[in-house]
Amino acid sequence: MFYLKDMSFAELKCFEHSCGARYPITDVIYNCPKCGGLLEAVYERPSQSPAELRKLFRERRMNNAPLDQSGVWRYRELFPFLDDYSHVVTLREGDTPLLSSSRAAEYGGLKNVAFKHQGFNPTGSFKDNGMTAGVAQARRLNMKRVACASTGNTSASMAAYASAAGLEGLIFLPHGNISFGKLAQGIEYGAKTLQVEGNFDEALALLRALADRLGIYVLNSINPFRIEGQKTILFEMLDQRDWRAPDWVVLPGGNLGNTSAFGKALREAKAVGLIDRLPRLAVIQAEGAAPFHDFWIHGAKEFHAVKKPETLATAIKIGDPVSWPKALHEVCTTNGVVEKVSEQEIADAKAIIGKSGIGCEPASAATLAGIRKLTAGGVMDKDADVVAVLTGNVMKDPDYIARYHMGELEAPGGRKIQSTFGNKAIVVPNDVDRVEELLRK
Ligand code: F0G
Repeated sequence: MFYLKDMSFAELKCFEHSCGARYPITDVIYNCPKCGGLLEAVYERPSQSPAELRKLFRERRMNNAPLDQSGVWRYRELFPFLDDYSHVVTLREGDTPLLSSSRAAEYGGLKNVAFKHQGFNPTGSFKDNGMTAGVAQARRLNMKRVACASTGNTSASMAAYASAAGLEGLIFLPHGNISFGKLAQGIEYGAKTLQVEGNFDEALALLRALADRLGIYVLNSINPFRIEGQKTILFEMLDQRDWRAPDWVVLPGGNLGNTSAFGKALREAKAVGLIDRLPRLAVIQAEGAAPFHDFWIHGAKEFHAVKKPETLATAIKIGDPVSWPKALHEVCTTNGVVEKVSEQEIADAKAIIGKSGIGCEPASAATLAGIRKLTAGGVMDKDADVVAVLTGNVMKDPDYIARYHMGELEAPGGRKIQSTFGNKAIVVPNDVDRVEELLRK
C-alpha cells in the first residue's frame, strides 16, 4: 500500500488490520513480532504521474542496462524497497509473453484467452520474478546463506539466483514428491539439497525451525520481498496490454504467495492511477490439495489445513498455505472466486495447452481447467477478457507428459487418468516401405 505520509521511504507493516505494527525495512523478520501476522512492504507514493511512469517503463525496454532489461526491475518505482540497486542480481527474468490461443479459448468456453507465460523465465517458472527481489534483499542485509522449502520451482530458482549472487543456497524438498527436472535444476545450480522425509508443509516447518538457530535467510514466499518481485508479473502483463485491465486474472493456488502478490499489484496499480479498475482474481486449486477453496466455499471462521495433500500437480501439493490471510483479502477485494479442479481436468487442460503449441507444467494447467468450470457454471462470461497465468514451463515435468500420452497416468489413490487427448509415440522399424505404409494409412 502507498500513501502513508508519516512513514520513512519503505517499511515492513503487519498485514493484520487489528495490529498494523511497522518495522524498519531491514529487520530480518518474516512474521510480526507483536502478533505473528504476515508482513508486507509499504512505501510512499511514487513521485511520478501515471503517464510518466508508463512512459518510463516503455522507454526502459529499449535500454540495454541489465536493470532495465529485467522484466522485474524495469518496474522498480512500484516496489522501491532497496536503497542501492548494486545489490541486484538479474538473470534477465520477466519479459515473458502474452500468448493467445483460439483452441484453448474454445476448450475453456471463452471467445478469447491470453496466457501470461511465466515458463519463459530463466529457470522456467514465475519464481524468478520474486527471487531476484528476495536475493537482492539478502545481499543488502549481508546474508551469506539463503534457504527455502519447495515443491521444486522455488528451489530451482533460489539455487540459481543464490549461486549467481555468490551466496550459499540450501534447499529443503519433500523427498519423492517433486519432479525430477526440478530436483535436477537445484543440484545443477549448486544448492545444498536436502530431501526431507515429509511433505512440503513439514519441510517448510523444519526450515523455519532451523533458520533462526543457524542464521539462514528464508526465501519462501513468506518473505515479503519475494512478493514484491512477483507483483511485476501483473505490472508487465498490464504494460503489455497498454494498461487496459482484463476482466479476470486466473492463477493456480498452492502456498498462495502469488495470489497475495497479484492482489497487492492490482490494488497498488489502481491506487497509483495506472489502471482504472480491478480485474477479478480466480484462484484454482487441485481437488486433493484445496484447503483455500474449502475455506472459501464454506465461509468457515477457521482455516483447516489438509493433512495429506494429494495431486499429480506436485507444484501445488500443499495442505497448509502460509499466505492464506493475504490471499483471502485479495480475492475479496477483487470480487474474485476460488475454484477446484480434478486430476483428470488438469491433465486434459494441460494437453490442450500443449496442443496449442504453448505447453506448461501440470499446476499451470489448473488455470484452463478452472476457466472451463467457471464458464460452464456461468460465473465467467464467455465474452470476458481473461488472462491466465501459466506458472511453469512444459519441460518441468516430462514424466507426467509421457505417462498421460501413453495412457499410463494414475491419479493419487490409483485411479487411471484417461488419455483423452493422447498422442502416443510410435516405434517403427527402420524400413522405408513399412514406414510409408504406416504414414499413408
Ligand atoms: N504453479 C507452479 C508451477 C508452482 O511452482 C507453484 C508453487 C504454484 C503454481 C503455486 O503458487 O504457492 O504462490 O500459490 N510452487 C512453490 C514451490 C510452492 O516451492 O515451488 P503459490
